Amino acid sequence: MTTTDIGALSDFENGGAKQVILGERTLVVVRIEDDVYVLDDRCSHEDFSLAEGIVDTANCEIECARHGAMFSLKDGSPMSFPATRPVAHYDVAINNGRVELVLS
Ligand code: FES
Repeated sequence: MTTTDIGALSDFENGGAKQVILGERTLVVVRIEDDVYVLDDRCSHEDFSLAEGIVDTANCEIECARHGAMFSLKDGSPMSFPATRPVAHYDVAINNGRVELVLS
């Protein structure tokens, strides 16, 4: 298991979605208060950036801006059609105000 620093917690707007490119991975990073969630930045319905979408902070979900599918930020699972497959989800640790992606 390795961790990779992807920025300071303060780099991420509360309730916002931000694209982060890490090597060959393109990720969407979402901050809700002091929690950070990371998914692959690619909707499983069609190839579209989830970072363009709207964050539902109350339900901890993100809406794809293209056709409106909702995904759980907690595990990447699809919560509504037209998406039926999950998006890859990554574990995150926050240490001393830094956001670390946990890679296995
Ligand atoms: S591309 Fe995301 S819901 Fe269709």
